[in-house]
Amino acid sequence: VSLKNLNTFRVDAHARWFTEIHNEGELQELFAEDRWRVAERFILGGGSNVLFTRDFGGLIIRMSIPGIAHEIKGDDVYVTAGAGVVWNDLVKYCVDRGFAGIENLSLIPGTVGASPVQNIGAYGVELKDVFHSCRAYHIDRAEVIAFSPADCEFDYRDSIFKRALKNQVLISSVTFKLSLVPHINISYGAIRQELEARGITHPNIKDVSSVVSSIRVEKLPDPSTIGNAGSFFKNPVIDEHEFVQLKSAFPDIVHYCLPNSTVKLAAGWMIEKSGWKGKQIKQTATWKNQALVIVNAGNASGSEIYGFSEAIINDVKEKFNITLEREVNVL
Ligand code: EPU
Repeated sequence: VSLKNLNTFRVDAHARWFTEIHNEGELQELFAEDRWRVAERFILGGGSNVLFTRDFGGLIIRMSIPGIAHEIKGDDVYVTAGAGVVWNDLVKYCVDRGFAGIENLSLIPGTVGASPVQNIGAYGVELKDVFHSCRAYHIDRAEVIAFSPADCEFDYRDSIFKRALKNQVLISSVTFKLSLVPHINISYGAIRQELEARGITHPNIKDVSSVVSSIRVEKLPDPSTIGNAGSFFKNPVIDEHEFVQLKSAFPDIVHYCLPNSTVKLAAGWMIEKSGWKGKQIKQTATWKNQALVIVNAGNASGSEIYGFSEAIINDVKEKFNITLEREVNVL
């Protein structure tokens, strides 16, 4: 099976086996067969956070469980969506109905089932802020189990589904706890500026969603026209001592102070300062408006893109003595 249309980098790779899942029953059936319990596997949602660097000799399981439902209890709204629901369709469903909490996460590519895996986040909100629970099929236990927020061990672009339970559980649906009473989060400077430019002083969640969407459209390449997987690297988090030294060498370094004496650095800034912004080598480039995003400028292969990212890591390491970590899954 060709994976070219199943990854937003649009790299060409093949999988030995491929199956698509539409409900929890199909997961039970699939793993009732010994061969699929032992086969190497990869769980795929929208393919927006993966780089295939080679053909895959195992089974690709595409999660396509549909459906969105909600239940209102007082001021709270519990919204449950199938793993295969396109993330932004869920955002629209909620924003249209006045269910507040995920408007800042407008236009993030990918599916609902993938959203807890890397704890998606943007413009001051992370998935963990609105996550209530999820259901997932546990292969070894051969049953569907529920995960609370604590079970998921969420962290910045991280969760248990990326670590201990990687490829062991398949998320079938996610329930979000949203609110009929919006808590508008416009802590992010770019959102405030855009609201001001539009003359909006008391934004509602529709305004926030619309502003976030236009910022993203302006800054980030549209995966439907140019292959990419959003931020390719994570923003590194270092401790304060390390930061003090760095800041004396680079006084204008872009950073955010976090609780517990740590500092998050803007990887995009460091990549730009290392001379990589908008740079193209053969068919791979960093995006002209955001150096943290690597794009497939034509027919790049996965290994070519991987090599390009290695070169960036080396140069940033040399200049800043910081080792960037990839955010996308490399296969
Ligand atoms: N910057 C530069 N040059 C660049 C890119 C960024 O100097 O080429 C500077 C910006 O000027 C700004 C700072 O770096 O001062 C941060 O940039 P930006 O606001 O664009 O956000 P980011 O830290 O680069 C993160 C997320 C994005 C998310 C945005 C907005 C990660 C890995 N990325 O990017 O998430 O949309 O914040 O909240 O945390 C994704 O994960 O795929 C993604 C797009």
